[in-house]
Amino acid sequence: MIRAGIINVTGYAGMELARLLKFHPDVDLVGVTGRSASGTELETFLPHLDGMNQLIKDEGEIENPDVIFSALPHKASAEACIGYLNQGVKVVDISADFRLDSLKEYESWYVEHPAPEYMDQAVYGLTELNRDKVSVSRLVANPGCYPTGALLGLAPLVSETMITKDVIVDSKSGVSGAGRSLGLNVHFSEANEDVSAYGLQGHRHLPEIEQGLAELNSSVDWAVTFTPHLIPMTRGILSTIYTHPLDSALPMNDGGQKQLTDLFKEFYRDEPFIRVTDAPPHTKQVAGSNMTQIHPTLDVRSGKIVVVTAIDNLVKGAAGQAIQNMNVMLDIKETQGLMGLALFP
Ligand SMILES: NC(=O)c1ccc[n+]([C@@H]2O[C@H](COP(=O)([O-])OP(=O)(O)OC[C@H]3O[C@@H](n4cnc5c(N)ncnc54)[C@H](OP(=O)(O)O)[C@@H]3O)[C@@H](O)[C@H]2O)c1
Repeated sequence: MIRAGIINVTGYAGMELARLLKFHPDVDLVGVTGRSASGTELETFLPHLDGMNQLIKDEGEIENPDVIFSALPHKASAEACIGYLNQGVKVVDISADFRLDSLKEYESWYVEHPAPEYMDQAVYGLTELNRDKVSVSRLVANPGCYPTGALLGLAPLVSETMITKDVIVDSKSGVSGAGRSLGLNVHFSEANEDVSAYGLQGHRHLPEIEQGLAELNSSVDWAVTFTPHLIPMTRGILSTIYTHPLDSALPMNDGGQKQLTDLFKEFYRDEPFIRVTDAPPHTKQVAGSNMTQIHPTLDVRSGKIVVVTAIDNLVKGAAGQAIQNMNVMLDIKETQGLMGLALFP
């Protein structure tokens, strides 16, 4: 059995890790930490995690783990990972601390990096696109929730250079994407029956999307407009991606639509967690599951390609993909513990 620990089980991503790991047949959860609830039984603090039989500990108290998941906010996360990395423990970091290749870029969007010496060792864990590197890594930077939906929707087009450099990613997120900490924007009376855009001058996930596109295809100087929206639902991200096909890349007719669908189906043919759908996906179809649903379509009248993706921000966008990465890192079957279906309606 793999001995796994969760740093910070008290936040949304950490508690989702605990929920999913309970049914992972190869994992023994040997410790969970949480600043605000240290010394409390996990199921007392979080009653939905019934039967976990875990006492919430202080950071650093997880004994002899083989793998650590960190679900802390950035900066605190890297700080908490250093000790485990120094001991040779494998780490999957759900925060943004190790996602960007460039220290300068990280520090321009976040804060001074607390562990820059480990940046070179980190592998960006968008599993479907980076599986080989993840399999030999000791530190995986789990992708951001928005970049997961955006990059998976763009990868087939970008890898094949089917589109021009201008890309628009219009994403809608449920409020759990903002975490459990209290804030005016997530008050029920303010978030309910309301929709708003934010981050118009540059959201922290933008450099991650740009970096991911450049890794897929560095021959194009990608120009991404990314507009996130907060909408009144609990979980899920729906991203609608608008691109222009290169001249003659696709005929603007039913044949072009078939070529586009076939391209996506072929690209993701062997992927257990990606479904290319014939109808636009709903976030409810993936809620609680590790699936990404992708619907590529041709807008024949305007000559554009529109791709719609749906993920659960807490599963494929966080805890589920983290477990997928752990499975790949530790040479466990990739789907192990992750085949639960969505909760619908
Ligand atoms: N929510 C998502 O959809 C999502 C998706 C992908 C990635 N992530 C990433 O996952 C991480 C956790 O996000 P989340 O949404 O789960 O956050 P969250 O629900 O707000 O939980 C964060 C918790 O971290 C603890 N904390 C805050 N500052 C700390 C510090 N300096 N030292 C120690 N503990 C601290 C607090 O718990 P205590 O009250 O116990 O101290 C806080 O409640 C973040 O890095 C986030 O970017 C989140």
